[in-house]
Amino acid sequence: MEVVISTAPDETGKLAADAISELLRRQPGAVLGVATGSSPLIIYDELGRRVAQGSLSLARAHAFMLDEYVGLPADHPQRYRNVIREQFIDKVDIDPKQVYGPDGLADDLAGACEAYERAIADTGGIDLQILGIGTDGHIAFNEPGSSLASRTRIKTLTSQTRRDNARFFGGDVDAVPLHCLTQGIGTILESRHLVLVASGRRKAEAVHQLVEGPISAMWPATALQLHPHVTVFLDTAAASRLQLASYYIETYQGKPSWQGF
Ligand code: F6R
Repeated sequence: MEVVISTAPDETGKLAADAISELLRRQPGAVLGVATGSSPLIIYDELGRRVAQGSLSLARAHAFMLDEYVGLPADHPQRYRNVIREQFIDKVDIDPKQVYGPDGLADDLAGACEAYERAIADTGGIDLQILGIGTDGHIAFNEPGSSLASRTRIKTLTSQTRRDNARFFGGDVDAVPLHCLTQGIGTILESRHLVLVASGRRKAEAVHQLVEGPISAMWPATALQLHPHVTVFLDTAAASRLQLASYYIETYQGKPSWQGF
Protein backbone atom coordinates (compact mmCIF):
# COMPACT_ATOMS: atom_id res chain seq x y z
CA MET A 1 0.00 0.00 0.00
CA GLU A 2 1.42 3.36 -1.02
CA VAL A 3 0.50 6.30 1.22
CA VAL A 4 0.94 9.78 -0.25
CA ILE A 5 0.49 12.72 2.14
CA SER A 6 -0.01 16.12 0.49
CA THR A 7 0.47 19.47 2.17
CA ALA A 8 -0.90 21.58 -0.70
CA PRO A 9 -4.74 21.69 -0.67
CA ASP A 10 -5.44 20.63 -4.27
CA GLU A 11 -2.45 18.32 -4.74
CA THR A 12 -4.36 15.16 -3.73
CA GLY A 13 -6.83 15.56 -6.60
CA LYS A 14 -4.05 16.29 -9.10
CA LEU A 15 -2.02 13.22 -8.12
CA ALA A 16 -5.05 10.93 -8.26
CA ALA A 17 -5.93 12.45 -11.66
CA ASP A 18 -2.33 11.74 -12.75
CA ALA A 19 -2.83 8.04 -11.96
CA ILE A 20 -6.08 7.99 -13.99
CA SER A 21 -4.59 9.99 -16.89
CA GLU A 22 -1.61 7.64 -17.07
CA LEU A 23 -3.94 4.61 -17.21
CA LEU A 24 -6.08 6.18 -19.96
CA ARG A 25 -2.98 7.11 -21.97
CA ARG A 26 -1.88 3.45 -21.95
CA GLN A 27 -5.41 2.07 -22.27
CA PRO A 28 -8.00 4.56 -23.66
CA GLY A 29 -10.84 2.03 -23.21
CA ALA A 30 -10.02 1.45 -19.52
CA VAL A 31 -12.77 0.63 -17.01
CA LEU A 32 -12.95 3.05 -14.08
CA GLY A 33 -14.78 2.57 -10.78
CA VAL A 34 -16.34 5.81 -9.54
CA ALA A 35 -17.28 6.74 -5.97
CA THR A 36 -19.86 9.30 -4.90
CA GLY A 37 -19.63 11.70 -1.94
CA SER A 38 -17.41 14.71 -1.33
CA SER A 39 -13.97 13.02 -1.36
CA PRO A 40 -13.61 12.34 -5.11
CA LEU A 41 -14.87 15.77 -6.20
CA ILE A 42 -11.32 17.16 -6.41
CA ILE A 43 -10.44 14.29 -8.77
CA TYR A 44 -13.49 14.77 -11.02
CA ASP A 45 -12.86 18.53 -11.17
CA GLU A 46 -9.24 17.96 -12.17
CA LEU A 47 -10.21 15.36 -14.80
CA GLY A 48 -12.75 17.87 -16.16
CA ARG A 49 -10.05 20.55 -16.43
CA ARG A 50 -7.76 18.18 -18.33
CA VAL A 51 -10.53 17.14 -20.73
CA ALA A 52 -11.40 20.83 -21.35
CA GLN A 53 -7.72 21.56 -22.06
CA GLY A 54 -7.61 18.67 -24.52
CA SER A 55 -4.89 16.75 -22.67
CA LEU A 56 -7.19 13.86 -21.64
CA SER A 57 -10.14 11.97 -23.10
CA LEU A 58 -12.50 9.49 -21.47
CA ALA A 59 -14.51 9.02 -24.69
CA ARG A 60 -13.64 5.32 -24.91
CA ALA A 61 -13.64 4.64 -21.15
CA HIS A 62 -16.33 2.79 -19.18
CA ALA A 63 -17.23 3.47 -15.55
CA PHE A 64 -19.00 1.52 -12.83
CA MET A 65 -20.48 3.17 -9.76
CA LEU A 66 -19.77 1.71 -6.33
CA ASP A 67 -23.21 1.97 -4.83
CA GLU A 68 -26.74 3.38 -4.99
CA TYR A 69 -29.47 4.19 -2.50
CA VAL A 70 -32.53 1.92 -2.59
CA GLY A 71 -35.85 3.50 -3.39
CA LEU A 72 -34.93 7.13 -4.16
CA PRO A 73 -37.12 8.33 -7.07
CA ALA A 74 -35.40 8.47 -10.49
CA ASP A 75 -35.31 12.28 -10.44
CA HIS A 76 -34.14 12.66 -6.83
CA PRO A 77 -31.03 14.87 -6.79
CA GLN A 78 -29.30 12.57 -4.26
CA ARG A 79 -29.87 9.41 -6.26
CA TYR A 80 -26.25 8.43 -6.92
CA ARG A 81 -26.86 8.03 -10.64
CA ASN A 82 -27.87 11.73 -10.71
CA VAL A 83 -25.00 12.79 -8.45
CA ILE A 84 -22.47 10.99 -10.68
CA ARG A 85 -23.99 12.62 -13.76
CA GLU A 86 -23.59 16.07 -12.25
CA GLN A 87 -20.20 15.56 -10.57
CA PHE A 88 -18.42 13.34 -13.08
CA ILE A 89 -20.20 12.58 -16.38
CA ASP A 90 -21.08 16.21 -17.19
CA LYS A 91 -17.50 17.37 -16.49
CA VAL A 92 -15.70 14.92 -18.78
CA ASP A 93 -16.31 13.47 -22.24
CA ILE A 94 -17.34 9.95 -21.20
CA ASP A 95 -20.37 8.48 -23.00
CA PRO A 96 -23.17 8.41 -20.36
CA LYS A 97 -24.29 5.05 -21.81
CA GLN A 98 -20.92 3.65 -20.75
CA VAL A 99 -21.48 4.57 -17.08
CA TYR A 100 -23.28 1.88 -15.10
CA GLY A 101 -24.73 1.71 -11.59
CA PRO A 102 -26.65 -0.79 -9.49
CA ASP A 103 -30.42 -0.37 -9.95
CA GLY A 104 -31.80 0.81 -6.61
CA LEU A 105 -35.31 0.95 -8.09
CA ALA A 106 -35.42 -2.67 -9.32
CA ASP A 107 -38.37 -4.83 -8.22
CA ASP A 108 -35.91 -7.69 -7.83
CA LEU A 109 -33.01 -6.10 -5.91
CA ALA A 110 -31.08 -9.37 -5.48
CA GLY A 111 -31.37 -9.99 -9.24
CA ALA A 112 -30.16 -6.45 -9.94
CA CYS A 113 -27.07 -7.10 -7.79
CA GLU A 114 -26.28 -10.32 -9.66
CA ALA A 115 -26.76 -8.53 -13.00
CA TYR A 116 -24.38 -5.80 -11.85
CA GLU A 117 -21.65 -8.30 -10.97
CA ARG A 118 -22.09 -9.90 -14.42
CA ALA A 119 -21.89 -6.50 -16.15
CA ILE A 120 -18.57 -5.72 -14.41
CA ALA A 121 -17.17 -9.13 -15.39
CA ASP A 122 -18.43 -8.81 -19.00
CA THR A 123 -16.59 -5.50 -19.39
CA GLY A 124 -13.37 -7.20 -18.34
CA GLY A 125 -13.28 -6.01 -14.71
CA ILE A 126 -12.42 -2.63 -13.24
CA ASP A 127 -8.93 -1.31 -13.99
CA LEU A 128 -8.87 1.53 -11.47
CA GLN A 129 -11.37 1.97 -8.64
CA ILE A 130 -11.69 5.37 -6.94
CA LEU A 131 -12.68 5.07 -3.27
CA GLY A 132 -13.55 7.34 -0.38
CA ILE A 133 -13.76 6.14 3.22
CA GLY A 134 -16.50 6.62 5.81
CA THR A 135 -15.75 7.85 9.32
CA ASP A 136 -16.68 4.32 10.48
CA GLY A 137 -14.21 2.77 8.03
CA HIS A 138 -16.73 1.75 5.37
CA ILE A 139 -15.70 1.51 1.73
CA ALA A 140 -18.50 1.81 -0.79
CA PHE A 141 -21.38 1.11 1.63
CA ASN A 142 -19.78 -1.93 3.27
CA GLU A 143 -20.49 -1.01 6.86
CA PRO A 144 -18.66 -2.47 9.88
CA GLY A 145 -19.39 -6.19 10.14
CA SER A 146 -19.49 -6.66 6.35
CA SER A 147 -17.99 -9.88 5.05
CA LEU A 148 -14.54 -9.21 3.64
CA ALA A 149 -15.51 -11.59 0.78
CA SER A 150 -18.88 -9.93 0.09
CA ARG A 151 -20.29 -9.32 -3.40
CA THR A 152 -22.77 -6.69 -4.65
CA ARG A 153 -25.84 -6.85 -2.39
CA ILE A 154 -28.33 -4.88 -0.33
CA LYS A 155 -27.00 -3.34 2.91
CA THR A 156 -28.52 -1.39 5.77
CA LEU A 157 -26.73 1.91 6.42
CA THR A 158 -25.57 2.56 9.99
CA SER A 159 -27.03 5.52 11.84
CA GLN A 160 -23.49 7.03 11.81
CA THR A 161 -23.41 6.95 7.98
CA ARG A 162 -26.95 8.31 7.76
CA ARG A 163 -25.98 11.16 10.11
CA ASP A 164 -22.83 11.81 8.05
CA ASN A 165 -24.86 11.91 4.82
CA ALA A 166 -27.74 13.99 6.19
CA ARG A 167 -25.80 17.05 4.98
CA PHE A 168 -26.77 16.04 1.43
CA PHE A 169 -30.46 15.79 2.44
CA GLY A 170 -30.90 19.25 3.96
CA GLY A 171 -29.69 18.01 7.36
CA ASP A 172 -32.64 15.60 7.69
CA VAL A 173 -31.34 12.18 8.86
CA ASP A 174 -34.77 10.61 8.29
CA ALA A 175 -34.61 11.57 4.60
CA VAL A 176 -31.44 9.46 4.13
CA PRO A 177 -32.51 6.00 2.86
CA LEU A 178 -31.98 3.10 5.23
CA HIS A 179 -30.92 0.71 2.47
CA CYS A 180 -28.47 0.74 -0.41
CA LEU A 181 -27.03 -1.58 -3.02
CA THR A 182 -23.26 -1.73 -2.84
CA GLN A 183 -20.39 -3.51 -4.49
CA GLY A 184 -19.03 -5.97 -1.94
CA ILE A 185 -15.54 -5.92 -0.49
CA GLY A 186 -14.74 -9.04 -2.53
CA THR A 187 -15.95 -7.20 -5.66
CA ILE A 188 -13.82 -4.14 -4.88
CA LEU A 189 -10.73 -6.26 -4.19
CA GLU A 190 -10.96 -7.62 -7.77
CA SER A 191 -10.29 -4.15 -9.23
CA ARG A 192 -6.75 -4.02 -10.53
CA HIS A 193 -5.75 -0.72 -8.85
CA LEU A 194 -7.48 0.86 -5.85
CA VAL A 195 -7.10 4.63 -5.38
CA LEU A 196 -8.50 5.93 -2.08
CA VAL A 197 -8.73 9.63 -1.26
CA ALA A 198 -9.44 11.11 2.16
CA SER A 199 -9.27 14.58 3.64
CA GLY A 200 -10.01 16.18 6.98
CA ARG A 201 -9.50 15.21 10.61
CA ARG A 202 -12.86 13.39 10.79
CA LYS A 203 -11.34 10.67 8.60
CA ALA A 204 -8.08 10.37 10.59
CA GLU A 205 -9.04 7.37 12.75
CA ALA A 206 -10.54 5.43 9.83
CA VAL A 207 -7.41 6.16 7.76
CA HIS A 208 -5.16 5.00 10.63
CA GLN A 209 -7.11 1.73 10.83
CA LEU A 210 -7.09 1.30 7.04
CA VAL A 211 -3.32 1.64 6.78
CA GLU A 212 -2.03 0.45 10.15
CA GLY A 213 -4.83 -1.42 11.93
CA PRO A 214 -5.39 -5.17 12.11
CA ILE A 215 -7.54 -6.55 9.27
CA SER A 216 -11.03 -6.75 10.65
CA ALA A 217 -14.66 -6.56 9.51
CA MET A 218 -15.03 -3.89 12.23
CA TRP A 219 -13.04 -1.55 9.94
CA PRO A 220 -14.01 -2.81 6.46
CA ALA A 221 -11.40 -0.65 4.68
CA THR A 222 -8.64 -2.70 6.35
CA ALA A 223 -9.38 -5.39 3.71
CA LEU A 224 -7.43 -3.18 1.30
CA GLN A 225 -4.25 -4.36 3.05
CA LEU A 226 -4.78 -7.66 1.20
CA HIS A 227 -4.67 -6.00 -2.23
CA PRO A 228 -1.34 -5.79 -4.08
CA HIS A 229 -1.91 -2.36 -5.67
CA VAL A 230 -3.45 0.33 -3.47
CA THR A 231 -2.63 4.05 -3.48
CA VAL A 232 -3.94 6.20 -0.62
CA PHE A 233 -3.92 9.98 -1.18
CA LEU A 234 -4.33 12.01 2.02
CA ASP A 235 -4.17 15.57 3.21
CA THR A 236 -2.27 16.24 6.44
CA ALA A 237 -5.45 16.28 8.58
CA ALA A 238 -6.57 12.84 7.35
CA ALA A 239 -3.00 11.59 7.91
CA SER A 240 -2.77 13.06 11.44
CA ARG A 241 -3.29 9.70 13.26
CA LEU A 242 -0.77 7.72 11.20
CA GLN A 243 2.01 6.28 13.36
CA LEU A 244 4.44 5.96 10.45
CA ALA A 245 3.57 9.25 8.71
CA SER A 246 7.21 10.40 8.51
CA TYR A 247 8.20 7.07 6.90
CA TYR A 248 5.46 7.40 4.24
CA ILE A 249 6.65 10.95 3.51
CA GLU A 250 10.30 9.84 3.19
CA THR A 251 9.28 6.93 0.96
CA TYR A 252 7.31 9.17 -1.38
CA GLN A 253 10.08 11.81 -1.49
CA GLY A 254 12.64 9.15 -2.34
CA LYS A 255 10.47 7.40 -4.93
CA PRO A 256 12.23 6.81 -8.28
CA SER A 257 10.75 9.09 -10.96
CA TRP A 258 10.10 6.16 -13.35
CA GLN A 259 7.86 4.38 -10.89
CA GLY A 260 4.50 6.23 -11.28
CA PHE A 261 1.40 5.12 -9.41
C1 F6R B 1 -19.92 6.63 -1.97
C2 F6R B 1 -19.15 5.71 -1.15
C3 F6R B 1 -18.83 5.99 0.26
C4 F6R B 1 -18.10 7.31 0.45
C5 F6R B 1 -17.85 7.55 1.94
C6 F6R B 1 -17.16 8.87 2.18
O1 F6R B 1 -20.06 6.10 -3.29
O2 F6R B 1 -18.81 4.70 -1.66
O3 F6R B 1 -18.00 4.95 0.75
O4 F6R B 1 -16.89 7.28 -0.25
O5 F6R B 1 -19.08 7.54 2.61
O6 F6R B 1 -18.02 9.90 1.82
P1 F6R B 1 -17.48 11.39 1.67
O7 F6R B 1 -16.49 11.37 0.58
O8 F6R B 1 -18.70 12.19 1.34
O9 F6R B 1 -16.88 11.74 3.00
